[in-house]
Amino acid sequence: MRAQADESHPDLRAALEHLLAAGGKRIRPTLGLLVGNILGAPLEKLVTLGAAVELLHTATLVHDDLIDGALLRRGMATLNARWSPPATVLTGDYLFARAAKLAAETDHLPLMKLFSETLAVIVNGELTQMFTSRGLISRDNYYKRIYAKTASLFEMTSRAAAMVSPASEETIESMRDFGYQIGVAFQIVDDILDFTGDQNAVGKPLGSDLLNGLVTLPAIYYAEANPNDADILSLPNGGWTNNDNMTRLVDNIRASNAAQQAMLEAEQNVDRALSRLDAMEPCAEREALENLAKYIVDRKV
Ligand code: IPE
Ligand code: IPE
Ligand code: MG
Ligand code: MG
Repeated sequence: MRAQADESHPDLRAALEHLLAAGGKRIRPTLGLLVGNILGAPLEKLVTLGAAVELLHTATLVHDDLIDGALLRRGMATLNARWSPPATVLTGDYLFARAAKLAAETDHLPLMKLFSETLAVIVNGELTQMFTSRGLISRDNYYKRIYAKTASLFEMTSRAAAMVSPASEETIESMRDFGYQIGVAFQIVDDILDFTGDQNAVGKPLGSDLLNGLVTLPAIYYAEANPNDADILSLPNGGWTNNDNMTRLVDNIRASNAAQQAMLEAEQNVDRALSRLDAMEPCAEREALENLAKYIVDRKV
């Protein structure tokens, strides 16, 4: 990933260094490496795929933080906190371009196609969220949204790792679904952490989804249990501009059991993911994949 910054403008190089130094969990490349290793994929293809996916992920975060006006990411100042919007947009674009080049270096045409299709799904999902998801939304809308913005990339990663392996269509499908299921769980937990997490551990601004007008699964559960809550009723009518209402609503959701209910759903997705590993021979990578799936719901970060 670092090598992708070579030959760029010194300021751009410094920005990319800043982004990469902040780390992050690197969970998507981990997923790709483990799936590919179980199935006997060539290591250099998996490393290239992992770097491509992580750079794509990083690019989406650079743009997401600019869009949300978020100042903190991975415990460090975001690019948009230090740089102008145009420079931030262009840095994100540069990362997208480098990610696409890496995807091409796998020399695998269906993988490249899948990669660009996934990027289109993510961008379309973010735009859909921006234009339509204000106010109370349905579960169906929520699940479509989290598929587009998050689960699609997990799904793409495990599927692509299986595609570059000597694996049957059935195995590729199992691994695709494994990635899909943990991706859905991952975003549900991200949405829960926005209510219940410790900001120092998570390293990004919390309590911000509702304040940004974003209704997520804990809020949906709360709304179902409290249909007459005045703050909930104000949601579809532009209650967003009143921060006092929103702060009270966030506190009420925190005090309710909505987060636990949402967590039960995430655990179901993890169980479905785990069942996809049943057919595999016991080995260190399988155990690591099981631990990865469990970590998705146990994490505090
Ligand atoms: C954050 O992803 C964006 C979401 C899809 C929720 P991660 O939580 O994987 O971010 P890093 O890479 O570990 O910082
Ligand atoms: C972002 O999801 C997912 C992207 C595709 C960028 P969130 O908006 O929940 O991510 P955070 O919470 O800012 O990391
Ligand atoms: Mg965000
Ligand atoms: Mg979030």
